[in-house]
Formats: sequence, structure tokens, C-alpha cells
Amino acid sequence: MYNFAKTTFVKSASDKSGFIKDDLPQVCFVGRSNVGKSSLINMLCMQNTLARTSNTPGRTRLVNYFKVDGGFYLVDLPGYGYQKGSKSQSDDWDNMMDDYFVDNDKLKMVFLLMDIRRDVSELDFAMQSYLFDNDIPYKIVLTKADKLSNNEKFVRINELCKQLRYNKEALILTSADKKLGRQQLIDFIESCLVD
Ligand code: GTP
Ligand code: MG
Repeated sequence: MYNFAKTTFVKSASDKSGFIKDDLPQVCFVGRSNVGKSSLINMLCMQNTLARTSNTPGRTRLVNYFKVDGGFYLVDLPGYGYQKGSKSQSDDWDNMMDDYFVDNDKLKMVFLLMDIRRDVSELDFAMQSYLFDNDIPYKIVLTKADKLSNNEKFVRINELCKQLRYNKEALILTSADKKLGRQQLIDFIESCLVD
């Protein structure tokens, strides 16, 4: 349906005055800092330098919009959990996310990313509850699957699904490095866009 290789960066926004409010649908990526949001977007679009990635957590501090094939937006949201201990910065994050999610009727799906090796954090649970409480459709995506053996993956998938109370069949397993899960994610995104 859409050619993900034809994706272009549109803009970054630091607050709601910069958020895109046009007729095109959006899907967004959230998760703790360093979980691999930007890398996943690059993998989907087969462009290594589209979204900026880094070893330094907190790389993406802005809301970044990428337009796929003229048809919809992939939105790279700032990671949480990297606030250098500052309460005011985490409040800023909360407010910016509220502004992004509230009354965003073009938002078709939220991908909540989890590193397959890590346990679910308080902030992950808070994000999941926020989406659930606000009736925002979301899907769990596990990242960095290349870091584990098949046995280890099996164990971690069961563990994370238990922690999240999430159906194993529904999650999407990915590796940006190995390009794992790309077609599954693309098929799912496209299914969210038809209505
Ligand atoms: P913030 O913008 O800080 O919120 O981080 P992010 O979630 O966008 O993470 P980013 O994509 O920048 O990736 C963080 C680090 O993890 C980088 O060093 C990536 O190379 C690495 N990484 C991301 N995805 C994968 C993956 O699937 N496998 C492996 N092995 N490394 C990955
Ligand atoms: Mg990023």
C-alpha cells in the first residue's frame, strides 16, 4: 500500500504550537529513552539517518514528524525516564505528551516499545495505564530481539506479557539491527490506516 522507503522528515515540534494538525492520520512511537524508537523508524523506512539515533539516552527531545509516501505520519516521541532527576523536566514531558495525545483524532495507533531484556518500569506501567484510561489504542512492540538467543527470547516474552497483562499473540517482536518484524509492523500499521 505505502512505500515506506519514500519517507521524509517533515518537522520537529517542541510544544503544541508546533504539532501537526492536518487531515493525514498519524501513528506514534513511545517508550523509555534508548529503547530504540528512532532506530525502529529508520528500519521501517530503510533509511539509516532519517531519525537521529544515539547511545546517549534522551537524544530525541522533540516530537518529530515523518511523512510516509505522502499518506500518513510516523511520529517519534521523546523518550521518558531520562530527566536527570529533575522533577520539572518530567512535568514538562507529561504536559507535552498530554498535549499530543488529548483530542488527537488523527492518531490511529500508539506503539509502546519495550526493550526485550528489561523489566517493565514504573514509567512504562504509567504510560500503559494512561493509554488504557484514555481509550487510546496501543500495541506493545519488543525491541532489540537480536541481543538474545531463541530460548532467552521465549522466556522474556512470557515474562513481559505477564508483567504487562498482555496477550503474547498480539505483540510484535523486532530488531532494528536484524530488520526483524519489519513486514509485520508495516502490515499492522496499514491495517490501522484503513477505516
Ligand atoms: P531516545 O531518542 O533517547 O528516546 O532513544 P530512542 O528510543 O530513539 O533509541 P535509539 O533508536 O536512539 O537507540 C538507542 C540505542 O540502541 C542506539 O545505540 C541503537 O543503535 C541501539 N538499538 C536500537 N535498536 C536496536 C536493536 O534492535 N538492536 C540493537 N542491538 N541495538 C539497537
Ligand atoms: Mg530517539
